[in-house]
Amino acid sequence: MSEKQLNVLDLFCGCGGLSQGFLDAGYNVMLGVDFEEAALKTFKYNHETSDVLLADLSKDEAIEEIADKIGDQKVDIVIGGPPCQGFSLTGSRDINDTRNTLYLAVVKAVRRFKPKAFLIENVPGIATLYNGIVKQQIINTFEDMGYNVSVSPKPLLAADYGVPQMRKRMFFVGIEKGYGSFEFPEPTHTPERYVTCSEAISDLPSRDEEFGEEVDNYEKKPQSLYQEFMRQNSKKLYNHVATNHTEHVKWVISQVPEGGNHKDLPPGIGDSRKFNEAWTRYHSKKPSRTIDTGHRNHFHYKYNRVPTVRENARLQSFRDDFVFIGTRTQQNRQVGNAVPPLLSLNLAKAILRHFDDVKSGRRKVKDLEQLNLELNI
Ligand SMILES: C[S@@+](CC[C@H](N)C(=O)[O-])C[C@H]1O[C@@H](n2cnc3c(N)ncnc32)[C@H](O)[C@@H]1O
Repeated sequence: MSEKQLNVLDLFCGCGGLSQGFLDAGYNVMLGVDFEEAALKTFKYNHETSDVLLADLSKDEAIEEIADKIGDQKVDIVIGGPPCQGFSLTGSRDINDTRNTLYLAVVKAVRRFKPKAFLIENVPGIATLYNGIVKQQIINTFEDMGYNVSVSPKPLLAADYGVPQMRKRMFFVGIEKGYGSFEFPEPTHTPERYVTCSEAISDLPSRDEEFGEEVDNYEKKPQSLYQEFMRQNSKKLYNHVATNHTEHVKWVISQVPEGGNHKDLPPGIGDSRKFNEAWTRYHSKKPSRTIDTGHRNHFHYKYNRVPTVRENARLQSFRDDFVFIGTRTQQNRQVGNAVPPLLSLNLAKAILRHFDDVKSGRRKVKDLEQLNLELNI
């Protein structure tokens, strides 16, 4: 591992799932930027050493606000997951010329701060959007700016990295030319060893009869290694408050078997929701589906209710000492939007390893003329 901590700038940081992985890997997350106040409160509460900036990244002035905030500190890595809504094509090879202003915020930050590397997270659909043209535009833009861009050959599956969730996300990692090309880390877990829902949350109080308090006590000891890992720094249980469903909704949920969905309901029941994810009950012996941001379509594998914020946080691999701030709707959105910290940790460690290998000569860099460059990280 490099002796010097690398400075990270997190754009569209949300509550800081992506940042958490980089912090755990030993980076210094200097600043998180977002335009949602509650998410930034959560970010700051959990990342005391990091600064936050409330800014609209679609606006030109945001980049100068960021520059003012970080002063003369060097930005080593820019990370971020820009929402990809509103993508439209103008026929250019370059994403710069489009109206994808949120992506442009990352482009501008990379151009302004010239980091050694950047990492962009996005939904799997970005790879095939407009027949892959958007993906190619992203690659072209950053290649033209002096980066070797690696795209995960297929979306990374969080369960492959120890997260109890079948969440898939695309990643782009750019490495400054002269320092080689990034290779995505190998999975740490095989399907037979995926962490399951019950391994993730079976120790948490049922909340079947009451809603619970924002701060509460644990009732059971950890029942799995994963639960021990989640509880390592936590004496109290936060954000484990149940939703108050009507008796009818609870009854409909009770009709869905473990791992089932609306298709398993008797005719005439639950007809109000019929899309793919409707009335989905998690399976105790499998990772969860991609957790949602509070749409109330997914249910606990055993209890007749939606998962609590804490249960969803566990399924996202947030440790229990990570506390979510805001209304329950805001908390659910923060958790559901986040990059699972364990997945992020694996990527953050792989980026560190990449630079260590280049520095020590273990990894051959492509651009021979740059080999003599002083690696100053
Ligand atoms: C997918 S979430 C990011 C999650 C984050 N990377 C994590 O791991 O926790 C996208 C974030 O972009 C923020 N966002 C959307 N539009 C924005 C804008 N115009 N300016 C700043 N932030 C914005 C949202 O508030 C949201 O927190």
